[in-house]
Amino acid sequence: MTAPRVLLGVAGGIAAYKSAELLRRFTESGHSVRVLPTAAALEFVGAATFEALSGQPVHTGVFHDVPSVAHVRLGQEADLVVVAPATADLLARAAHGRADDLLTAALLTARCPVLFAPAMHTEMWEHPATQDNVALLRSRGAVVLDPASGRLTGKDTGPGRLPDPAEIAELARLLLERGDALPRDLEGRRVVVSAGGTREPLDPVRFLGNRSSGRQGYALARVAAQRGASVTLVAGATADLGDPASVRVVRVGTAEQMRVAMHEAAADADALVMSAAVADFRPATLVTTKIKKTPRSSPDPLVLATNADILAELVATRRAGQVVVGFAAETGDATGDALHHGRIKLRRKGCDLLVVNAVGDGKAFEVADNAGWLLAADGTETELPDGSKALLASRVWDAVAPRLS
Ligand code: CTP
Repeated sequence: MTAPRVLLGVAGGIAAYKSAELLRRFTESGHSVRVLPTAAALEFVGAATFEALSGQPVHTGVFHDVPSVAHVRLGQEADLVVVAPATADLLARAAHGRADDLLTAALLTARCPVLFAPAMHTEMWEHPATQDNVALLRSRGAVVLDPASGRLTGKDTGPGRLPDPAEIAELARLLLERGDALPRDLEGRRVVVSAGGTREPLDPVRFLGNRSSGRQGYALARVAAQRGASVTLVAGATADLGDPASVRVVRVGTAEQMRVAMHEAAADADALVMSAAVADFRPATLVTTKIKKTPRSSPDPLVLATNADILAELVATRRAGQVVVGFAAETGDATGDALHHGRIKLRRKGCDLLVVNAVGDGKAFEVADNAGWLLAADGTETELPDGSKALLASRVWDAVAPRLS
């Protein structure tokens, strides 16, 4: 397979320095990257950095490499264009079809998916001119990420930060895998996603936990947010993952805390996705002092009590029209394979959709990719081919969106 050809546009904002990390991520994943900075971007990061990291020449204007008509060819040949950071000025020029440098010319000739990752001060982002430009670009099929909130240059904070390069890279890979844009079909919808594993304390220093990294749930939250949804992510214990841009994150520890947080967030939600690995059991009694080796504590700290089944409760209490999605990690056994157990679980849990992952042998847990089947209560079964967790997430939302009344 030939390496995907990515054009990385870099506009002139302070976040331009983060584009070097993004570039690194692309090249390390085997992509062939041509960096197209604007002249202003080179005020922040030197061309030598981009040339060294990409192994390709860097120009800003259309009068370099004229015999190969680079300003037309680069866009035509690209599999993906990512502009990070996209400043207010760059978004304005792109929205209005300007072609006054190599980057904007390439944007006009590209027919592949285009991803803009904006970064600017909050006032500039919220200005109606910028919002109109963003809406125009989105209406033409470009993916314009919502910026992250947080500390901006100087003393101010608010929406306008460049989303984490890891997040941009994940969504960029998703566009390459899908080969098309992400629809904004969750605009105006509220969705709740649970992620990660729960931890059931045994004593002040020990807990019963599991190997869930939270990556699948985070990918579900990220992809939903970038499809326009207002997202609440109820996160248990996870690997070290950055908060997804423009997502409300509620942190929980135990299954009971996750249960409370999910019911609270479910009250006004259109869709609920339980991708968390919830502990089925907890120690029946919480020992408040550290359990000692000798003498062994009594009663036995490993006597377990059963936790509530949050998914089953959410199904039982759902509002009319609310779509509920569950996950099932199955190994298969003597009575049937993973898919067989998934079908039984879908009926038992009563949810609208169930994602069945075959686990074991290093599959699904603590890894970047995922595969499985998507089973629907109406009997539809869709195979989810091997791909990124963001791709699986996007297939789940592809199925949820038309089911929202
Ligand atoms: N789940 C839940 N509450 C629990 C256990 C699981 O909400 N106490 C949810 C998970 O988030 C997942 C689905 O139920 O969406 C299936 O989880 P899984 O562990 O596969 O199923 P269990 O019901 O625990 O059944 P078993 O472990 O016996 O296969």
